[in-house]
Amino acid sequence: MSEPTEQFESRKRDHIVQALAGRNQASGLTGFEQVRLIHEALPEVNFSDIKIDAASLGESRKTPFLVSSMTAGHVDAIDLNLRLAKACEKRGWLFAVGSQRRELNDSAAADEWRQIRAAHPDLSILGNIGISQIAKISTSDVERLVESLGASAMIVHCNPLQEVIQEEGTPNFEGSFEALNRLCEELSVPVVVKETGCGFSEPTLYRLKRLKIAAIDVAGLGGTHWGRIEGSRSGEESFAYQLSETFKDWGVSTVESLLNAKSTAMDSEVWASGGVRSGLDAAKAIAMGAKVVGMATPILRAALESEQALELCMQRIETELKIAVFCTGLKSVAELHNNDEVLQWENH
Ligand SMILES: Cc1cc2nc3c(=O)[nH]c(=O)nc-3n(C[C@H](O)[C@H](O)[C@H](O)COP(=O)(O)O)c2cc1C
Repeated sequence: MSEPTEQFESRKRDHIVQALAGRNQASGLTGFEQVRLIHEALPEVNFSDIKIDAASLGESRKTPFLVSSMTAGHVDAIDLNLRLAKACEKRGWLFAVGSQRRELNDSAAADEWRQIRAAHPDLSILGNIGISQIAKISTSDVERLVESLGASAMIVHCNPLQEVIQEEGTPNFEGSFEALNRLCEELSVPVVVKETGCGFSEPTLYRLKRLKIAAIDVAGLGGTHWGRIEGSRSGEESFAYQLSETFKDWGVSTVESLLNAKSTAMDSEVWASGGVRSGLDAAKAIAMGAKVVGMATPILRAALESEQALELCMQRIETELKIAVFCTGLKSVAELHNNDEVLQWENH
Protein backbone atom coordinates (compact mmCIF):
# COMPACT_ATOMS: atom_id res chain seq x y z
CA MET A 1 0.00 0.00 0.00
CA SER A 2 1.37 3.42 -0.90
CA GLU A 3 2.09 5.94 1.83
CA PRO A 4 -0.17 9.04 2.11
CA THR A 5 1.52 12.13 0.62
CA GLU A 6 0.94 14.22 3.78
CA GLN A 7 2.77 11.66 5.95
CA PHE A 8 5.67 11.49 3.48
CA GLU A 9 5.99 15.29 3.25
CA SER A 10 5.79 15.79 7.00
CA ARG A 11 8.47 13.12 7.64
CA LYS A 12 10.82 14.76 5.12
CA ARG A 13 10.35 18.15 6.82
CA ASP A 14 10.97 16.60 10.27
CA HIS A 15 14.20 15.07 8.97
CA ILE A 16 15.58 18.46 7.98
CA VAL A 17 14.80 19.95 11.42
CA GLN A 18 16.13 16.92 13.32
CA ALA A 19 19.34 16.59 11.28
CA LEU A 20 20.38 20.02 12.55
CA ALA A 21 19.86 19.16 16.24
CA GLY A 22 23.01 18.38 18.27
CA ARG A 23 21.56 15.21 19.84
CA ASN A 24 21.25 13.60 16.43
CA GLN A 25 24.92 13.91 15.52
CA ALA A 26 27.16 11.01 16.61
CA SER A 27 29.99 13.49 17.01
CA GLY A 28 33.46 12.25 17.90
CA LEU A 29 32.84 8.74 16.55
CA THR A 30 34.07 8.94 12.94
CA GLY A 31 37.57 7.75 13.80
CA PHE A 32 39.13 10.71 11.95
CA GLU A 33 40.42 11.84 15.38
CA GLN A 34 42.76 8.82 15.40
CA VAL A 35 44.23 9.58 11.98
CA ARG A 36 46.86 12.19 11.16
CA LEU A 37 48.38 13.29 7.91
CA ILE A 38 52.13 13.64 8.30
CA HIS A 39 53.37 17.22 8.15
CA GLU A 40 56.00 18.16 5.57
CA ALA A 41 57.88 21.31 6.58
CA LEU A 42 59.59 21.57 3.20
CA PRO A 43 56.95 21.22 0.50
CA GLU A 44 58.49 21.73 -2.97
CA VAL A 45 55.33 23.22 -4.41
CA ASN A 46 53.58 26.54 -4.93
CA PHE A 47 50.25 26.49 -3.01
CA SER A 48 48.46 28.11 -5.94
CA ASP A 49 49.41 25.12 -8.14
CA ILE A 50 47.73 22.53 -5.86
CA LYS A 51 45.21 20.50 -7.88
CA ILE A 52 42.08 19.06 -6.34
CA ASP A 53 40.36 17.87 -9.51
CA ALA A 54 39.26 14.24 -9.39
CA ALA A 55 37.66 11.52 -11.49
CA SER A 56 34.89 9.12 -10.55
CA LEU A 57 32.44 6.94 -12.46
CA GLY A 58 34.39 7.76 -15.61
CA GLU A 59 33.96 11.54 -15.32
CA SER A 60 36.42 14.27 -14.34
CA ARG A 61 35.33 17.10 -12.07
CA LYS A 62 36.92 20.15 -10.44
CA THR A 63 36.68 18.56 -6.98
CA PRO A 64 36.26 15.11 -5.35
CA PHE A 65 33.23 16.36 -3.37
CA LEU A 66 29.62 15.22 -3.28
CA VAL A 67 26.55 16.80 -1.75
CA SER A 68 25.13 13.61 -0.23
CA SER A 69 21.53 12.53 -0.79
CA MET A 70 19.16 14.60 1.28
CA THR A 71 15.80 15.82 0.42
CA ALA A 72 13.14 15.38 -2.23
CA GLY A 73 9.42 15.04 -2.68
CA HIS A 74 8.00 17.99 -0.74
CA VAL A 75 7.34 21.62 -1.52
CA ASP A 76 10.32 23.06 0.43
CA ALA A 77 12.70 20.61 -1.23
CA ILE A 78 12.40 22.22 -4.65
CA ASP A 79 14.07 25.51 -3.70
CA LEU A 80 16.64 23.75 -1.57
CA ASN A 81 17.58 21.31 -4.33
CA LEU A 82 17.74 24.13 -6.89
CA ARG A 83 20.12 26.02 -4.59
CA LEU A 84 22.29 22.92 -4.07
CA ALA A 85 22.31 22.11 -7.79
CA LYS A 86 23.39 25.64 -8.69
CA ALA A 87 26.27 25.59 -6.19
CA CYS A 88 27.38 22.10 -7.29
CA GLU A 89 27.44 23.12 -10.95
CA LYS A 90 29.46 26.24 -10.16
CA ARG A 91 32.03 24.54 -7.93
CA GLY A 92 32.29 21.16 -9.65
CA TRP A 93 30.72 19.01 -6.91
CA LEU A 94 28.62 15.92 -7.56
CA PHE A 95 24.99 16.31 -6.52
CA ALA A 96 22.78 13.51 -5.16
CA VAL A 97 19.07 13.97 -4.55
CA GLY A 98 17.15 12.45 -1.64
CA SER A 99 14.96 9.36 -1.91
CA GLN A 100 12.75 9.36 -5.01
CA ARG A 101 10.36 6.94 -3.30
CA ARG A 102 7.38 9.29 -3.54
CA GLU A 103 7.68 9.31 -7.33
CA LEU A 104 6.95 5.56 -7.40
CA ASN A 105 3.32 6.28 -6.51
CA ASP A 106 2.92 9.90 -7.55
CA SER A 107 4.18 10.82 -11.02
CA ALA A 108 3.71 14.54 -10.22
CA ALA A 109 6.76 14.24 -7.95
CA ALA A 110 8.91 14.15 -11.11
CA ASP A 111 8.12 17.87 -11.68
CA GLU A 112 10.79 18.67 -9.11
CA TRP A 113 13.43 17.08 -11.36
CA ARG A 114 12.18 18.74 -14.51
CA GLN A 115 12.78 22.14 -12.89
CA ILE A 116 16.31 21.21 -11.78
CA ARG A 117 17.15 19.67 -15.16
CA ALA A 118 15.84 22.71 -17.03
CA ALA A 119 18.04 25.01 -14.93
CA HIS A 120 21.13 22.72 -15.04
CA PRO A 121 21.06 20.59 -18.19
CA ASP A 122 24.70 19.43 -17.89
CA LEU A 123 24.96 18.78 -14.15
CA SER A 124 25.78 15.20 -13.00
CA ILE A 125 22.93 14.27 -10.69
CA LEU A 126 22.67 11.00 -8.80
CA GLY A 127 19.25 9.46 -8.11
CA ASN A 128 18.33 7.75 -4.84
CA ILE A 129 16.09 4.91 -3.69
CA GLY A 130 16.00 2.70 -0.58
CA ILE A 131 17.05 -0.95 -0.68
CA SER A 132 13.82 -1.96 1.08
CA GLN A 133 11.93 -0.39 -1.85
CA ILE A 134 13.79 -2.08 -4.70
CA ALA A 135 12.74 -5.56 -3.57
CA LYS A 136 9.11 -4.52 -4.23
CA ILE A 137 9.53 -2.89 -7.64
CA SER A 138 10.87 -3.80 -11.07
CA THR A 139 13.99 -2.51 -12.83
CA SER A 140 11.75 -0.55 -15.21
CA ASP A 141 10.26 1.31 -12.21
CA VAL A 142 13.77 2.35 -11.19
CA GLU A 143 14.57 3.17 -14.83
CA ARG A 144 11.69 5.67 -14.77
CA LEU A 145 13.28 7.39 -11.74
CA VAL A 146 16.58 7.57 -13.66
CA GLU A 147 14.87 9.03 -16.73
CA SER A 148 12.82 11.67 -14.93
CA LEU A 149 15.93 13.02 -13.22
CA GLY A 150 18.38 12.44 -16.08
CA ALA A 151 20.46 10.67 -13.43
CA SER A 152 24.04 9.71 -14.26
CA ALA A 153 23.95 6.97 -11.59
CA MET A 154 21.44 5.54 -9.12
CA ILE A 155 22.24 5.40 -5.42
CA VAL A 156 20.63 2.61 -3.41
CA HIS A 157 20.63 3.40 0.30
CA CYS A 158 20.77 0.84 3.11
CA ASN A 159 19.14 2.05 6.34
CA PRO A 160 17.98 -0.90 8.49
CA LEU A 161 18.40 0.93 11.82
CA GLN A 162 16.37 3.91 10.62
CA GLU A 163 13.54 1.79 9.21
CA VAL A 164 13.24 -0.30 12.38
CA ILE A 165 13.15 2.68 14.77
CA GLN A 166 10.94 4.89 12.57
CA GLU A 167 7.33 4.50 13.74
CA GLU A 168 5.98 4.29 10.18
CA GLY A 169 9.15 2.52 8.90
CA THR A 170 9.26 -0.43 6.49
CA PRO A 171 11.89 -2.75 7.99
CA ASN A 172 11.30 -5.61 5.57
CA PHE A 173 14.62 -6.21 3.80
CA GLU A 174 13.82 -9.75 2.61
CA GLY A 175 15.02 -10.30 -0.95
CA SER A 176 16.90 -7.02 -1.05
CA PHE A 177 20.32 -8.52 -1.88
CA GLU A 178 18.90 -10.38 -4.89
CA ALA A 179 16.97 -7.24 -5.93
CA LEU A 180 20.20 -5.25 -5.73
CA ASN A 181 21.97 -7.87 -7.85
CA ARG A 182 19.20 -7.64 -10.47
CA LEU A 183 19.40 -3.85 -10.52
CA CYS A 184 23.19 -3.89 -10.95
CA GLU A 185 22.81 -6.29 -13.91
CA GLU A 186 19.90 -4.54 -15.61
CA LEU A 187 19.89 -0.80 -14.92
CA SER A 188 21.11 1.49 -17.73
CA VAL A 189 23.26 3.60 -15.37
CA PRO A 190 25.86 2.66 -12.71
CA VAL A 191 24.60 1.64 -9.26
CA VAL A 192 26.13 3.17 -6.12
CA VAL A 193 25.38 1.54 -2.75
CA LYS A 194 25.48 3.63 0.40
CA GLU A 195 24.62 3.40 4.07
CA THR A 196 23.11 6.41 5.78
CA GLY A 197 25.41 6.82 8.79
CA CYS A 198 25.99 3.28 10.12
CA GLY A 199 28.78 2.19 7.75
CA PHE A 200 29.76 -1.23 6.39
CA SER A 201 31.42 -4.20 8.10
CA GLU A 202 33.94 -6.38 6.29
CA PRO A 203 31.54 -9.36 5.84
CA THR A 204 28.89 -7.08 4.29
CA LEU A 205 31.47 -5.66 1.90
CA TYR A 206 32.54 -9.18 0.89
CA ARG A 207 28.90 -9.91 -0.02
CA LEU A 208 28.61 -6.67 -1.99
CA LYS A 209 31.87 -7.42 -3.78
CA ARG A 210 30.06 -10.20 -5.67
CA LEU A 211 27.77 -7.64 -7.36
CA LYS A 212 28.42 -5.27 -10.27
CA ILE A 213 28.39 -2.16 -8.10
CA ALA A 214 30.10 0.94 -9.48
CA ALA A 215 30.82 2.54 -6.09
CA ILE A 216 30.31 1.96 -2.36
CA ASP A 217 29.75 5.09 -0.29
CA VAL A 218 30.55 3.93 3.24
CA ALA A 219 28.41 6.62 4.98
CA GLY A 220 29.77 5.51 8.35
CA LEU A 221 29.10 6.30 11.99
CA GLY A 222 30.20 9.68 13.34
CA GLY A 223 27.85 12.20 11.75
CA THR A 224 24.11 12.42 11.32
CA HIS A 225 22.61 9.36 13.03
CA TRP A 226 19.28 8.10 11.71
CA GLY A 227 18.48 5.95 14.74
CA ARG A 228 18.72 9.08 16.90
CA ILE A 229 16.71 11.15 14.40
CA GLU A 230 13.77 8.75 14.31
CA GLY A 231 13.72 8.67 18.13
CA SER A 232 13.79 12.47 18.34
CA ARG A 233 10.97 12.75 15.80
CA SER A 234 8.71 10.65 18.03
CA GLY A 235 9.38 12.73 21.17
CA GLU A 236 11.22 12.04 24.43
CA GLU A 237 8.35 10.08 25.98
CA SER A 238 8.05 7.69 23.06
CA PHE A 239 9.04 4.04 22.69
CA ALA A 240 11.07 5.00 19.59
CA TYR A 241 13.06 7.49 21.68
CA GLN A 242 14.00 4.77 24.19
CA LEU A 243 15.15 2.54 21.35
CA SER A 244 17.16 5.38 19.85
CA GLU A 245 18.93 5.98 23.20
CA THR A 246 20.00 2.33 23.28
CA PHE A 247 21.22 2.42 19.68
CA LYS A 248 22.55 5.97 19.63
CA ASP A 249 26.14 4.89 18.90
CA TRP A 250 25.27 1.93 16.67
CA GLY A 251 27.27 1.49 13.49
CA VAL A 252 30.71 1.04 11.96
CA SER A 253 32.69 4.27 12.03
CA THR A 254 33.56 6.00 8.78
CA VAL A 255 37.28 5.30 9.24
CA GLU A 256 36.68 1.63 10.18
CA SER A 257 34.41 1.26 7.14
CA LEU A 258 37.13 2.70 4.89
CA LEU A 259 39.65 0.26 6.36
CA ASN A 260 37.16 -2.56 5.81
CA ALA A 261 36.81 -1.49 2.17
CA LYS A 262 40.58 -1.54 1.82
CA SER A 263 41.04 -4.99 3.34
CA THR A 264 38.19 -6.32 1.21
CA ALA A 265 39.92 -4.94 -1.92
CA MET A 266 36.62 -3.80 -3.40
CA ASP A 267 36.53 -3.84 -7.22
CA SER A 268 34.21 -0.84 -7.15
CA GLU A 269 35.18 2.72 -6.32
CA VAL A 270 35.09 3.55 -2.61
CA TRP A 271 33.47 6.80 -1.52
CA ALA A 272 33.59 8.28 1.98
CA SER A 273 30.90 10.04 3.96
CA GLY A 274 29.39 10.12 7.42
CA GLY A 275 30.59 12.84 9.77
CA VAL A 276 32.95 14.45 7.26
CA ARG A 277 33.03 18.01 8.53
CA SER A 278 36.06 19.61 6.88
CA GLY A 279 38.41 19.40 3.94
CA LEU A 280 40.94 17.90 6.36
CA ASP A 281 38.59 14.99 7.17
CA ALA A 282 38.13 14.62 3.42
CA ALA A 283 41.91 14.58 2.84
CA LYS A 284 42.30 11.75 5.39
CA ALA A 285 39.51 9.78 3.69
CA ILE A 286 41.13 10.26 0.27
CA ALA A 287 44.50 9.07 1.61
CA MET A 288 42.63 5.98 2.90
CA GLY A 289 41.32 5.27 -0.61
CA ALA A 290 38.17 7.35 -1.13
CA LYS A 291 37.57 8.64 -4.66
CA VAL A 292 34.64 10.86 -3.68
CA VAL A 293 33.85 12.46 -0.32
CA GLY A 294 30.28 13.35 0.61
CA MET A 295 28.68 15.61 3.19
CA ALA A 296 25.04 16.07 4.10
CA THR A 297 24.17 18.04 7.27
CA PRO A 298 26.93 20.70 7.09
CA ILE A 299 25.86 21.49 3.53
CA LEU A 300 22.18 21.50 4.53
CA ARG A 301 22.86 23.95 7.36
CA ALA A 302 24.71 26.36 5.06
CA ALA A 303 22.17 26.02 2.24
CA LEU A 304 19.27 26.81 4.58
CA GLU A 305 21.08 29.96 5.68
CA SER A 306 21.73 31.51 2.26
CA GLU A 307 23.27 31.01 -1.16
CA GLN A 308 26.32 32.97 0.03
CA ALA A 309 26.70 30.84 3.17
CA LEU A 310 26.59 27.69 1.02
CA GLU A 311 29.22 29.05 -1.36
CA LEU A 312 31.47 30.02 1.56
CA CYS A 313 31.06 26.60 3.19
CA MET A 314 32.03 24.80 -0.03
CA GLN A 315 34.95 27.16 -0.59
CA ARG A 316 36.23 26.57 2.96
CA ILE A 317 36.08 22.78 2.52
CA GLU A 318 37.94 22.97 -0.81
CA THR A 319 40.63 25.26 0.67
CA GLU A 320 41.10 22.96 3.68
CA LEU A 321 41.67 20.05 1.30
CA LYS A 322 44.22 22.12 -0.65
CA ILE A 323 46.05 23.02 2.58
CA ALA A 324 46.15 19.36 3.65
CA VAL A 325 47.65 18.39 0.26
CA PHE A 326 50.19 21.26 0.43
CA CYS A 327 51.28 20.56 4.02
CA THR A 328 51.85 16.85 3.32
CA GLY A 329 54.25 17.92 0.56
CA LEU A 330 52.05 16.64 -2.27
CA LYS A 331 50.81 18.44 -5.38
CA SER A 332 47.39 16.99 -6.03
CA VAL A 333 44.45 14.94 -4.83
CA ALA A 334 45.60 12.33 -7.37
CA GLU A 335 48.88 11.97 -5.40
CA LEU A 336 47.00 11.90 -2.08
CA HIS A 337 44.60 9.16 -3.19
CA ASN A 338 45.25 5.82 -1.49
CA ASN A 339 48.58 7.05 -0.11
CA ASP A 340 49.60 5.14 3.06
CA GLU A 341 52.88 7.04 3.30
CA VAL A 342 51.24 10.24 4.51
CA LEU A 343 49.01 8.51 7.09
CA GLN A 344 49.84 8.15 10.77
CA TRP A 345 47.64 6.29 13.25
CA GLU A 346 47.04 7.01 16.91
CA ASN A 347 45.93 4.11 19.16
CA HIS A 348 45.12 1.79 16.28
C1 LIG B 1 17.83 15.99 5.85
C2 LIG B 1 18.51 14.75 5.39
C3 LIG B 1 17.80 13.85 4.59
C4 LIG B 1 18.41 12.67 4.12
N1 LIG B 1 17.74 11.85 3.27
C5 LIG B 1 18.40 10.83 2.67
C6 LIG B 1 17.79 10.08 1.63
O1 LIG B 1 16.66 10.34 1.23
N2 LIG B 1 18.51 9.06 1.08
C7 LIG B 1 19.78 8.75 1.50
O2 LIG B 1 20.42 7.86 0.94
N3 LIG B 1 20.36 9.42 2.51
C8 LIG B 1 19.71 10.46 3.09
N4 LIG B 1 20.32 11.18 4.08
C9 LIG B 1 21.59 10.68 4.65
C10 LIG B 1 22.82 11.35 4.09
O3 LIG B 1 22.93 11.17 2.70
C11 LIG B 1 24.11 10.87 4.79
O4 LIG B 1 24.37 9.53 4.44
C12 LIG B 1 24.07 10.97 6.30
O5 LIG B 1 23.34 12.10 6.71
C13 LIG B 1 25.47 11.05 6.89
O6 LIG B 1 26.18 12.17 6.40
P1 LIG B 1 26.47 13.48 7.29
O7 LIG B 1 27.07 13.01 8.58
O8 LIG B 1 27.42 14.30 6.46
O9 LIG B 1 25.16 14.17 7.51
C14 LIG B 1 19.75 12.38 4.54
C15 LIG B 1 20.44 13.28 5.32
C16 LIG B 1 19.85 14.46 5.74
C17 LIG B 1 20.64 15.40 6.59
